[in-house]
Amino acid sequence: MNIPWQKSNLLQKRASKVMPLGVNSNFRYWGEGMTPYMQRAKGAHLWDADGNKYIDYRMAFGPIILGHAWDEVNEKVKQEIDLGTLAAMTGELEIEVAEKMVRMCPGLEMVRFACSGTEATMHALRVARAFTGRERIIKFEGMYHGFQDYTLWSTYAPVEAYGNPRSPIPVPSSSGIPRPLNQMIVTLPFNNAEILENTLRAIGETVAAIITEPCMGNCGAIEPQRNFLQFIRKQCDKYDIVMILDEVKTGFRIANGGAQEYYRIKPDLATYAKALANGYPLAALGGKREIMSIIGQGVSQGGTFTNNKPGVAAAWTTLTILQREPVLKTIEKRGRRLMDGIGKILSGRGIPFCMNGYPSMFSYAIGVEKVTDQRSWNESDKDFYLALVEALIERGVMPDHDAREPWFLCYAHTDEEIDETLNIFTDVIKNADRQR
Ligand SMILES: Cc1ncc(COP(=O)(O)O)c(C=O)c1O
Repeated sequence: MNIPWQKSNLLQKRASKVMPLGVNSNFRYWGEGMTPYMQRAKGAHLWDADGNKYIDYRMAFGPIILGHAWDEVNEKVKQEIDLGTLAAMTGELEIEVAEKMVRMCPGLEMVRFACSGTEATMHALRVARAFTGRERIIKFEGMYHGFQDYTLWSTYAPVEAYGNPRSPIPVPSSSGIPRPLNQMIVTLPFNNAEILENTLRAIGETVAAIITEPCMGNCGAIEPQRNFLQFIRKQCDKYDIVMILDEVKTGFRIANGGAQEYYRIKPDLATYAKALANGYPLAALGGKREIMSIIGQGVSQGGTFTNNKPGVAAAWTTLTILQREPVLKTIEKRGRRLMDGIGKILSGRGIPFCMNGYPSMFSYAIGVEKVTDQRSWNESDKDFYLALVEALIERGVMPDHDAREPWFLCYAHTDEEIDETLNIFTDVIKNADRQR
């Protein structure tokens, strides 16, 4: 990338002496001498350490639903932290957040908080195992449910390692994941009802949970097709399996009631984090009373920071704003314009592509007409996608560097920013296409 990132590069060198790769999450590392470091962010904009300004479409991987450093959220956090940040005691504000969540999300009757999406999915899996007395988990290839060991399988591996889709090989996504966990995980291609049905016919009675994102939020935002979520729901009912809908990315983003409202589906358990608190750390798992009630009845869940006041205050304010204003409708309108605009520009250049996802969270796969799962998405032209992204970043528009990560919008993206993005996209594609 041809960007003056002198200060970022110096920070990276300094950070690398005390932090592996110079970052605190592998996902924030883009390479040596090409990893931007942050100075500040406000609304829809982000400034890197060198002071370069970007229209941000990463939104911190999804949490920023209102805008960076949203005044009303920050004001409430400031008020609340002056009253104490943590007390090993439950407060009224967190009860209100739980009440709001139950009101907004169709499948929730009870919730428990956590600090991150990883924790929320880890707890949900435990609850499902405890409820069913079974240990096996089914997850879909290319889906990401956080860094816990149970589902960090077949997430980022080269799909060539996955074997035949009728009997996929679960591939751990990290060294250090205990090999025996292989016995407890079954990985399947998303959107394939026949393979799921056959698998359940063989092992359905040993499966505790099917965990799924509503769409492939960590692989090109591929949507469920032919009512696949409803199919999972029916199969879970048939075999008494707990259906866990991982709404860490879709929750409070694609609808106030998340994918449950959008697709009219009630899972048994659901997990949340990201947009729940507009960038502050709060996560949750929730679901049917009958299942959630076993927590505390011989089933453990908790954590010192699970009711941290900044997270709770931010969630309270974010949900209040979502209920009060047409936040998601506004994002939908602007995001739709951006998706359509990008689509027209690509079509205008005769570049084959398919657009996936929702206006608040979308992606396009280049060089393919349809993608349904990670295997088919892998056929897309990721090199050209990356060349485009790098050229966009050079011009001040920042989607994520990884083609799997969707573009995220927030309430603060205005029509002007959408226009500016489309103008830049038009320029960038001309050059990139010429060099192809
Ligand atoms: C669907 C999904 N589940 C879980 C997680 C993990 O959340 P966290 O990064 O807060 O641990 C993520 C993070 O990107 C996610 O996208």
